[in-house]
Amino acid sequence: MKVALGVCGGIAAYKACEIVRLLQEHGIRVQVVMTAAAQEFIRPLTFAALSGEKVIAGLWGPAGEPANLDSAIEHIAVAQSIDALLVAPCTADTLAKFAHGQADDFLSTLYLATPAPVVIAPTMNVQMWQHEATQSNLDILRKRGVQVVEPGSGYLACGMVGAGRMAEPEQIVATILAKLGIVRDLAVETVLITAGPTREPVDPVRFLGNRSSGKMGYALAEAAQRRGARVVLVSGPVALEAPAGVELVRVETAEQMRSAVVSRAAEASIIIAAAAVADFRVRKAAEQKIKRNGAISLELEPTADILQELSENRRPEQVLVGFAAETEDAVENGRAKLKRKNLDAIVINDVSRPDIGFDSDRNEVTIITADEKIEVPEDSKSKIAQRILDAALTLKTKTGRLAPAK
Ligand code: PMT
Repeated sequence: MKVALGVCGGIAAYKACEIVRLLQEHGIRVQVVMTAAAQEFIRPLTFAALSGEKVIAGLWGPAGEPANLDSAIEHIAVAQSIDALLVAPCTADTLAKFAHGQADDFLSTLYLATPAPVVIAPTMNVQMWQHEATQSNLDILRKRGVQVVEPGSGYLACGMVGAGRMAEPEQIVATILAKLGIVRDLAVETVLITAGPTREPVDPVRFLGNRSSGKMGYALAEAAQRRGARVVLVSGPVALEAPAGVELVRVETAEQMRSAVVSRAAEASIIIAAAAVADFRVRKAAEQKIKRNGAISLELEPTADILQELSENRRPEQVLVGFAAETEDAVENGRAKLKRKNLDAIVINDVSRPDIGFDSDRNEVTIITADEKIEVPEDSKSKIAQRILDAALTLKTKTGRLAPAK
């Protein structure tokens, strides 16, 4: 998704930096459009660095450079490419331009050219805010469906006290997320997720591992974070970046994963164990690199069953979701794991198939709970993650297990 963020010339322009960051945390691309006055308060370079996108600072292209046609018609391209236009801070001047269809800068031209929903966060001196002209312009915009994030009251830059202070970035972003239909139904949850393989040392150079890439667990972490959850991701060694806004705990061995998970489990309202934890480790890893002298034998011992331990020590209101990597009789074996480990749900995937499961961007799962069997057809792991979270949330609401109020 992409949002154009209009920034006008007010002291609250610095808060637009936080708005950029918060929108990005939800996976939203942000293209900043600055009025001339805004550039008196903050430089375009700041927003270019934060957003990673080109900042539009003039209708005719960069200030001081000759006007070029590409810039002159760029507002049409931007207008068609965005999912929403957010103006924060929005000054009385821009608000008046919008209300009366004036189009003498990029932002006011963009407003007229875009079919996307518009949200504005006004900021101005209290007298200006209360002025009949401003209130009349606001009424015009509201009637056209423009959503106004009402300014708060408090100390204003001009030293006066009263209405006119731009709303806080969190409130503005929550408004635009709702406008975009981005549901934050996990906002009260803390979700603990495990991902990736573990590595069990054989000697200082070698280890026992598996083909888990971490993609399934990281997709769950990203989806949960975007739905408002606080996410703790305990990850074995993978080649993935932590999703924005997720607390990442890196581990190597099954024992390290167990220790990290057990120490964080108490704070979680939902736990999803997507990691491919080694079932065995070398009883005694060699202290020196094993030399090639013909065949060798390794004595393996079972690792601790983390999920079993979580289940035995769970809080009553916790929802526990396990995975099952099966190669035959997948549903029967998965259902047996659900019962044996006393889980709330188990996500079964057939890892004998090369096109899904381990290291693939796609998966196909069956989610089994005590009274449901949900077949989720093959899809991206991001989409599959959404369905797994939906099932976890349903379990919480169905069992009345609401997360402790924060
Ligand atoms: O990481 P990807 O490349 O995206 O691949 C995704 C996946 C195939 C790894 C994932 O979808 C998956 O199936 N994860 C579980 C793999 C696994 O270990 O399944 P299992 O049936 O062996 O284990 C059952 C459950 O017990 C799992 O939730 C596992 O995390 C847990 N377990 C296993 C061993 C152990 N010692 N402790 C555990 O808690």
